[in-house]
Amino acid sequence: MKVTVVGAGAVGATCADNIARKELCTELVLLDIKEGFAEGKAQDMMQTATLLGFDTKITGSTNDYSKTAGSDVVVITSGLPRKPGMTREELIGTNAGIVKGVCENILKYSPNAIIIVISNPMDTMTYLALTATGLPKNRIIGMGGTLDSSRFKYQLSQHLKCSPADLNALVVGGHGDTTMIPLIRYATWNSAPVTDFLSAEQQQQIVNDTMVGGATLTKLIGTSAWYAPGAAGAALVESIVRDEKKLFTCCVSLEGEYGQNDICLGVPVTIGKNGWEKIIDLKLNEEEQAAFNKSADAVRNMNDVLKTL
Ligand code: LAC
Repeated sequence: MKVTVVGAGAVGATCADNIARKELCTELVLLDIKEGFAEGKAQDMMQTATLLGFDTKITGSTNDYSKTAGSDVVVITSGLPRKPGMTREELIGTNAGIVKGVCENILKYSPNAIIIVISNPMDTMTYLALTATGLPKNRIIGMGGTLDSSRFKYQLSQHLKCSPADLNALVVGGHGDTTMIPLIRYATWNSAPVTDFLSAEQQQQIVNDTMVGGATLTKLIGTSAWYAPGAAGAALVESIVRDEKKLFTCCVSLEGEYGQNDICLGVPVTIGKNGWEKIIDLKLNEEEQAAFNKSADAVRNMNDVLKTL
């Protein structure tokens, strides 16, 4: 098994680090445009191999895509990260060109790869990857909802004072501060609805804090977060290479599901060796469906910007 992570910045490097620690592949390539950067990070990570006890071979490459040849899974993290006060959407002008170029280069050497998109604005970058490559829809997966759902579980665990591992919760819709939809009605604490244990105010607080989860960290750290985004990418790689068929919220191409077409948006999907394999059609109530439609409108507006670039 061979995996490539494009972009050796904080998110890409963290993702690669997690992949190596879990030995999800025998060969792992880290690629970046900055001279020597990916090689350096790959070497640093390889020097943890004997300490951490993993056997994945990590190599770095400065923009030489021939080194990525034959990858089964490719994670794209390239592009500018958010700065404090910036929305993910403001990155579209720069990141669209970068992501399109990366996809073209990757497919030259790994025509069968499954592509995981992390670059922001993630929903639009996923749509771009799908439309620019013409790949079968199941091979293009946007990571956003996986991260947002993990942040949702963290927020719930803080209020419930419980282990996040005991929680099930998902965030659907877009990966934007105002477009994501934490579905608290569906969230459970070891099968019991969390809404049984939380006041209406607490529920609203949890939903709000989840939605601005990324922005809160950007403000605190001074740039976009990386531990959870990187771990979310690696969790998807794991489900693919081990054919786990785990359920994650991912940004995928909708063809009528959830009442939407010609868009990539976050919905629950199973992830296995074929990429995303099955969309789980939740029975959203009227309010949730209205929020989903509104989220789709916002993402569609962002996708339209691609035509002007
Ligand atoms: C975040 C970025 C990765 O939410 O979108 O932290």
